[in-house]
Amino acid sequence: MSEHHGTERELGEVVLRVTGLVKWFGEVCVFDGLDFEMRANEIVGLIGPGGVGKSVFVKLCCGLMAPDAGRIELLGQDLAQTTEQEKQALRERVGLVFQNYALFDFMTVGDNVAFPMRQRGGFSDEQVAAKVQERLAEVDLPKVRHLMPGELSGGMKKRVGLARANINDPELIFFDDPTAGLDPVTSSKIFNLIRKTQEQRNSTCLVISHDIDRMRAACDRYVLLYAARVHFAGTAEQALASRDSIVHEFFQRDKEVHS
Ligand SMILES: Nc1ncnc2c1ncn2[C@@H]1O[C@H](COP(=O)(O)OP(=O)(O)OP(=O)(O)O)[C@@H](O)[C@H]1O
Ligand SMILES: [Mg+2]
Repeated sequence: MSEHHGTERELGEVVLRVTGLVKWFGEVCVFDGLDFEMRANEIVGLIGPGGVGKSVFVKLCCGLMAPDAGRIELLGQDLAQTTEQEKQALRERVGLVFQNYALFDFMTVGDNVAFPMRQRGGFSDEQVAAKVQERLAEVDLPKVRHLMPGELSGGMKKRVGLARANINDPELIFFDDPTAGLDPVTSSKIFNLIRKTQEQRNSTCLVISHDIDRMRAACDRYVLLYAARVHFAGTAEQALASRDSIVHEFFQRDKEVHS
């Protein structure tokens, strides 16, 4: 996997630590004391049945939603103790690829990709344009800057989403279902791209997907959410060796069974 550097991945400090997370929506308990940890440089696959709380988990970890109880430490800071301004500063160090493309339909592709960099501020128009061009080239879309999102295919929109999430060179990136609705070939390309950009930048990634087979090209290990908790955490090999029937189902059977 690390053909570019020829070195083993070295894991660094904890970049995300979640302890005793509790989240309710009305009568529905989404998390009931969940613990989770991620270290610098790893790519973790977050899996679990539809509706288990994967997207909610990402929103909680980015401070876009507040938990009912528990502690979330993002890049060394306890989210409950941070001001709105500090949260904003943290978000600049974090990239987010939303489950639904979440591109602004009224902006060109180039402006969409530039958006987090302009929000951050302090860059000239030339610097922004150069960075946008570089990020679009990385996702193999060097010529779409002037198009509107409505003129792109689903796979192209997903890649624009990746370019946008990478624009500020984030230390940590959350990919929420980056290949949903895509054909198998494009899906594989996206997972390979996630792996490649992680290796180039030494970032840390959390990848949510239902596509266990293809996400294996990107992920070092997996965390399976089930019944409001982490049901399993480990490598694909450990999952396949597990005697737990739920773990087995997720790693061996078709995803349709679970959604
Ligand atoms: N803003 C909200 N208000 C109320 N309930 C919500 C809200 N967001 C999510 N939920 C509920 O939280 C639960 C988890 O939703 P979530 O979107 O995180 O699932 P998921 O694991 O991402 O599913 P999928 O694989 O289909 O994307 C669901 O029961 C959902 O209805
Ligand atoms: Mg989701």
